[in-house]
Order: sequence, then C-alpha cells, then structure tokens
Amino acid sequence: MINLQPLSWDNYVAVYQLQVEEHQKGYLAPNYASLAEAYLMSKEADGCPQALFAICNNAEVVGFAMIDYIPSGEGSYANYAGGDGEACYYLSRFMLDKRFQGQGLGKSAMDLIIDYVKTRPLGETASFYTSFKPENEVMRKFIAKCGFVETGKINQGEVITKIMF
Ligand SMILES: CC(C)(COP(=O)(O)OP(=O)(O)OC[C@H]1O[C@@H](n2cnc3c(N)ncnc32)[C@H](O)[C@@H]1OP(=O)(O)O)[C@@H](O)C(=O)NCCC(=O)NCCS
Repeated sequence: MINLQPLSWDNYVAVYQLQVEEHQKGYLAPNYASLAEAYLMSKEADGCPQALFAICNNAEVVGFAMIDYIPSGEGSYANYAGGDGEACYYLSRFMLDKRFQGQGLGKSAMDLIIDYVKTRPLGETASFYTSFKPENEVMRKFIAKCGFVETGKINQGEVITKIMF
C-alpha cells in the first residue's frame, strides 16, 4: 500500500538513488540535487517551509515528493499563476522511479499528497499548484487525472496547474 514517509536518515539514500527513464531526465532535477536545494533553502532566513517525502509502497521507497509553502506577497508563486499573491502550496518535485511507473502508484501517492496539503500543515491557503514542461505529455495527462487544472500561464517555461480546496 502506498504511503508517504518524511525524508529521514533511513530513507534518503534510497530516495537519491531513484531514477527516471533516460528521456524523462530533462523534466526535473535529479533527486540528489533536490535534496541539496532543500538543504540550502532550510538555511535561508527567508527560505520557504518545505515538506519532503519518500513515496513508499509498503516499506519499499518508490518515489519522491517535495512540497513548498510559499508565503503571500510579491514573490508568491500565485502571482506567476495569475493569482493575487496569496500564499500557496507548490509541488516542486514529484517522481516515481522508472521501475514503478504506470502501475497506479503515482496516482495513489498524489491522492495522499493532496489530502496532506488540505490539512494546511505549513500554513493557510486555498490553492495548491504544480507545473510541468509542455513536452511532458504523460505528466499533463497524469496531473489532469489527479484533479489539477491548467491555468493558461507559463512560468520559467513550465505549464502552471492549480487545484483549489
Ligand atoms: C508522471 C508520473 C509521476 C506518473 O506516475 P505513474 O505512477 O507512472 O502514473 P499512474 O500509473 O498512477 O497513472 C495515473 C494516470 O496518469 C496517466 N498516465 C500515466 N502514465 C501514462 C503514460 N505512459 N501515458 C499516458 N498517460 C499516462 C494516465 O491518465 C493514468 O491513468 P490511467 O491508468 O487510468 O489511464 C511518472 O510517470 C513519473 O515519475 N515520470 C517521470 C518524472 C516526471 O515527469 N515528473 C514530473 C516532473 S514535473
């Protein structure tokens, strides 16, 4: 059964060893780079709070997710999405290892992530964003299936999608 485990000493090596298919490598940073980025963000005085998860199938690590809470204001991600600068959650990384794709595990994991964000664990908001490269057609279909809607906006070359709750 799919479950989310906070990143820890017990699972971080398995997380950074996860691999996507060769043709998917341009869609997102490798996990070791995401872990380094999260570390640096945690050191910044005004860095945004983040939640990092190993996506597990029973006890096996099969994927990785990184969720940012972006406070309100001029720099809010919601501004790029055509919003009014409200605080929001942003799924900045989401991947399943190539061995575990196409088995319904990603959808189950995303359902858990949406339920988690709905509890507003890092701060208040009504919106949850994610984005993907326009050529990532699998992610486009996947994300629509998960309930996200394309906003019609592009940020840093990525299609912005949003879910409200
Ligand atoms: C995108 C990704 C997370 C999807 O996870 P997954 O576990 O493979 O997807 P699921 O098996 O849960 O599929 C759920 C839905 O996604 C869509 N989907 C998944 N794989 C697909 C494929 N190869 N072709 C078309 N649609 C696909 C379908 O709508 C599917 O529903 P269905 O099976 O009822 O048709 C996964 O493929 C992945 O990690 N890709 C590489 C990393 C990446 O691109 N991350 C996003 C960066 S922005």
